[in-house]
Amino acid sequence: MGRLRGKSALITGAARGIGLAFAQAYAAEGAKVALADIDIERASKAARDIGDAAIAVEMDVTQQASIEAAVAETVDRFGQIDILINNAAIFTAAPIVEIARADFDAVFKINVAGTLFTLQAVARHMIARGGGGRIINMASQAGRRGEPLVAVYCASKAAIISLTQSAGLDLIRHGINVNAISPGVVDGEHWDGVDAFFAKHEGKAPGQKKREVGAAVPFGRMGTAHDLTGMAVFLASDEAEYIVAQTYNVDGGNWMS
Ligand SMILES: NC(=O)c1ccc[n+]([C@@H]2O[C@H](COP(=O)([O-])OP(=O)(O)OC[C@H]3O[C@@H](n4cnc5c(N)ncnc54)[C@H](O)[C@@H]3O)[C@@H](O)[C@H]2O)c1
Repeated sequence: MGRLRGKSALITGAARGIGLAFAQAYAAEGAKVALADIDIERASKAARDIGDAAIAVEMDVTQQASIEAAVAETVDRFGQIDILINNAAIFTAAPIVEIARADFDAVFKINVAGTLFTLQAVARHMIARGGGGRIINMASQAGRRGEPLVAVYCASKAAIISLTQSAGLDLIRHGINVNAISPGVVDGEHWDGVDAFFAKHEGKAPGQKKREVGAAVPFGRMGTAHDLTGMAVFLASDEAEYIVAQTYNVDGGNWMS
């Protein structure tokens, strides 16, 4: 407890799921947190539930003006941003021959461009302030290996691993550590949608895909959002100062690198 005392964090996509768990964990460690999301109603309720340490900020990571407004609002409220978690993302799946250009564009706009330009806006603030900072991007085991029905999402997460390397190498001279977390299969509303997709495309019963992927994890079950919070706190803490441009698997043993 208290490992992030005095720090301020901006977390995108924090209205629910993994981003919300990160916000709760950061607040519990003493940080102030801005829960940034396109779903401002849900983000506001989540921030109220966390308490005085949290605020909600409306943000659409596909819109440059929205990114800049969210960063400015967070700096205005907290005085600074020490930690950014680029967590907002969407999932899409289709056989290669059925991928729609609009789906590709939407996924890359949120998952890849959203991450890059939010990282850029916060890095500019951190550089101007001169105190360094921590940036954590959300990758995925989907970025480590392609999957037949998940080409676009997999490619977007491979891009996150690459961007983490490039940004990490560029920004460490400013004292900004950029790293990524690569989860495996994490139960929640995101995976409800994935399960529904596979039910349709592979003729599975609802819930069957979740049971299969959970049983295939070496640890023996799907992850929970809370399984990831330890790594998110560690990467933002003073103990992680010498860690640069890495992507860490937190996936119950699904992937080794
Ligand atoms: N759940 C998993 O199994 C899993 C596995 C590997 C990686 N991840 C990654 O972890 C992160 C969080 O996943 P999750 O399961 O909590 O997802 P989720 O779908 O539950 O939550 C995503 C959040 O992002 C927000 N969002 C969507 N578009 C946005 C936009 N344009 N601007 C701002 N916010 C936007 C949504 O409103 C939502 O609150 C994502 O980057 C995801 O790719 C998840």
